Amino acid sequence: MEFKNLLWEITDNILLLTINRADKLNALNGETILEIQAAFIEAKKTAGLKGIIVTGAGEKAFVAGADISEFQALDMQQAKALAQRGHDIFFLIEHMQIPVIAVVNGFALGGGCELSMACHMRVATANAKFGQPEVNLGIIAGYGGTQRLIQYIGKSKALELHLTADMIDAQTALNLGLLNYIEADKTTALEKAKTIINKIATKGPVAVAKVIECTNAYYKDGVDGFDFEVNAFASLFHTEDVKEGVSAFLEKRKPEFKGK
Ligand code: COA
Repeated sequence: MEFKNLLWEITDNILLLTINRADKLNALNGETILEIQAAFIEAKKTAGLKGIIVTGAGEKAFVAGADISEFQALDMQQAKALAQRGHDIFFLIEHMQIPVIAVVNGFALGGGCELSMACHMRVATANAKFGQPEVNLGIIAGYGGTQRLIQYIGKSKALELHLTADMIDAQTALNLGLLNYIEADKTTALEKAKTIINKIATKGPVAVAKVIECTNAYYKDGVDGFDFEVNAFASLFHTEDVKEGVSAFLEKRKPEFKGK
């Protein structure tokens, strides 16, 4: 498969998807997220795949978030469509019937942290950093982050991360339950992810698919919460704060929020 911002490589029946916009820290612009969707649809149709690894190009970032430059001109309707599209794509990933592992090599912020959380497991490099910094922009997570972070680390710490926009390092993420493993670097993290996928490939494939389905079903009550997030995300695009927050990031200055 050929993509503009995504590398698709199958070795030993394991698909490695690399988000490939290193100059923008692999930020998810519209084109890239649609390519991720196309890749997962294609993966579903690819016979014999044992699992999928998602990672970011380069050493600095997994994904530094949704592409903030695309937020500048969004009205509420467009913001809602953007969030809903992200939800649909991340549900597609979460509901794959083979294991999907994020190899988090550097920053996993905003939509990047959310993408890693839509994967079934996370193996990080020692330099990985996680965060949901959307409030810095006057917005909130819009790709399922308000729902999935609670699932992994509990309400108390999830609220702290969303409200303070603080970044946490890999060791803290492991201690909180967000991560499965930390490895020294990307090479060893990829090896670890492949080892996990190869182990799962020796088990009954139907049972593996059912484990994923049942585990996702545990959070079914969260479906309302996901809808709630889409609407809340969209409503913020009616505020002056989002214009200020986004402009401030792009102009590399501190935002001055007015609270309206
Ligand atoms: N959207 C669009 N562009 C982004 C981006 C994003 N989420 N994150 C980084 N970039 C771009 C930067 O604008 C910069 O582009 P430029 O070289 O054309 O100016 C490039 O990627 C490199 O980023 P830079 O900020 O210079 O790197 P840094 O090492 O100084 O800082 C971060 C790294 C991750 C701390 C910083 O880029 C950041 O805070 N990014 C935004 C994170 C975020 O808020 N994500 C949630 C979005 S909803």
